[in-house]
Amino acid sequence: MNPEQALHDLQAAMAGCRRCGLCRNRRHIVFGKGNPQARIMLVGEGPGREEDAQGIPFVGQAGRLLDKIIAAAGLPQEDIYVCNVVKCRPPGNRLPTEEETAACKPFLREQIRIVRPALIVALGALASQTLLNDSGFRISKGRGQWRQGGIFPILPTYHPAALLRDEGKKRPVWEDFLQVATKYNSIISANYKQNEDKGGL
Ligand code: URA
Repeated sequence: MNPEQALHDLQAAMAGCRRCGLCRNRRHIVFGKGNPQARIMLVGEGPGREEDAQGIPFVGQAGRLLDKIIAAAGLPQEDIYVCNVVKCRPPGNRLPTEEETAACKPFLREQIRIVRPALIVALGALASQTLLNDSGFRISKGRGQWRQGGIFPILPTYHPAALLRDEGKKRPVWEDFLQVATKYNSIISANYKQNEDKGGL
């Protein structure tokens, strides 16, 4: 099955989800956006107010900042897929609980399996802990260092909402996204070279 159809089916399977208490206050399940075959996957924490209202991830203030960072780093939006650890808004934007995270994790795992990105950027502590299966992971210590999550290279960095609260995190995040751009560009040129070696594009 092609990835677009597989994501569509997964989203349909989530409709009306009642696996955790977040279903009680949500307006929309916020599934994901972007290219189903993207090489870059960005994983955030959970929808905020605007995301809940629109049903689309990262459309609020943090999302607008994220878009600026992506553009400044020269990463193409058309090669990006964005989603969150939990798909329903935690009331008041609190951190999702362990139970909520565990209830939603199979959907995230499936999204990753379908999209098969070449690299994943974990935005913030919760996304990093979830993707690395390491509840002891500390974002301030571990950000900016590539890790392996199964077959996927994962780069933990600060969540864009953290930058809005603390200007001091701008520089590290910028450096992290430059690392993402470097890795992405090397993946692109390796693919190009492979195609050339096969005698065509
Ligand atoms: N913060 C997140 O983690 N995800 C969103 O979609 C929006 C804000």
